[in-house]
Amino acid sequence: MASNNLIIGLEIGTSKICVVVGESRPDGTVKILGVGQTPSRGVRKGEIVDFETAMKCVHEAVVDAEQKSDVMIRSVYVAVAGSHLQSFNNRGCVILPEDRDEIDEGDAEDVKINAREVSIPAQNAFLHSIIQHYHVDGQDGVLNPVGMLGQKLEADFHIIHGVRTRIQNTIRCVKELPLDVEDVVFGGLASAQVVLTQHQKDLGALVIDIGGGTIDYILYADGAVKQSGCVAIGGDHITNDISMGLRIPMARAEKLKVEEGSCILGNSLPGEMILLKDDSGFAGKEIERETLNTIIHLRLRETFELLKRRLDEEPFINYLGAGILRNFRNARARSPRTNHLRRDVRGGKPTVLNFNRFDQVRASCANGSAAWPRNRPNLWKAF
Ligand SMILES: Nc1ncnc2c1ncn2[C@@H]1O[C@H](COP(=O)(O)OP(=O)(O)OP(=O)(O)O)[C@@H](O)[C@H]1O
Ligand SMILES: [Mg+2]
Repeated sequence: MASNNLIIGLEIGTSKICVVVGESRPDGTVKILGVGQTPSRGVRKGEIVDFETAMKCVHEAVVDAEQKSDVMIRSVYVAVAGSHLQSFNNRGCVILPEDRDEIDEGDAEDVKINAREVSIPAQNAFLHSIIQHYHVDGQDGVLNPVGMLGQKLEADFHIIHGVRTRIQNTIRCVKELPLDVEDVVFGGLASAQVVLTQHQKDLGALVIDIGGGTIDYILYADGAVKQSGCVAIGGDHITNDISMGLRIPMARAEKLKVEEGSCILGNSLPGEMILLKDDSGFAGKEIERETLNTIIHLRLRETFELLKRRLDEEPFINYLGAGILRNFRNARARSPRTNHLRRDVRGGKPTVLNFNRFDQVRASCANGSAAWPRNRPNLWKAF
């Protein structure tokens, strides 16, 4: 099937590589035609560490997506992650020439460039400048200044940057296949595109995507992105803790976590045991359920505390009218009672919402990449 309206999102994750084939509809929605997925190899903490192996995996996921959607994939929108990504908020300003008082597209572009005139580490490159609000001659909350009369245009941006070569490596991995890269997008931003409504963004919301090796987060307040980042901790750390703490192989620990684990303490009967059957090379073992849950609880607690410290660097966490959305798989915390875990950490009472819609496909990030606007200028086309 060939269509000009195809949009393909790709996430090269630490645990899985996911390709979502979408078709954009005239009403602005994207219909998902198919999802291709393969277990990931050659990726650590969201970044490529073995180029050839990662490339093969991406190829497999692309072929899988092609078969499932009956579409030939030629170009993709790629989600990027990694703890090298950093962000800040900054205001740009342009003064219109005296012989002109109508703001045009060029001024809107100039104010964006001006907001980027901040020194970032030499090895870094800008990934996104996300508009928060425009101000025209001191008038706040302007959504689109183009066509308005004014002398001074100011604009606040949320700016994301990261190590250029690490972003380029992801792009090269796709280009070698060969596939065109339409654009790159921070994974957390892509996820938020599909899990948050505009109303939630307006009310204020925090999206936390706990992956295998990384946690992407993005905070909206007053309709705009205010904070974002990526922490190099994920579900694999929980698995590792279980493996070390209970002295069982990693594969066993992973299965145990997914099938039996919980982050809630005090929910099991005293002395309740889980039997791990013997297997080739593994003698079998009995594990106390509360011990397993304690390991998961402690790691998650530490992780959320770290995240909170990051978020507390700015005041926006106090303005989350729509609550916090996190993918619950890793927390294995489907019960609303688990709110106490995060409430302990935050000290507040936000509503916790579930990403039900995308939990099954484990693909909110790739989905979001497929929903990424097509008409924005591609900064990364050059690579
Ligand atoms: N049912 C489950 N319960 C608990 N954890 C789960 C469950 N299913 C998957 N996980 C965990 O989720 C993690 C994988 O999540 P995901 O597929 O989102 O990661 P990824 O996108 O490949 O990685 P990253 O975004 O960090 O690069 C693994 O640590 C896995 O153990
Ligand atoms: Mg991910």
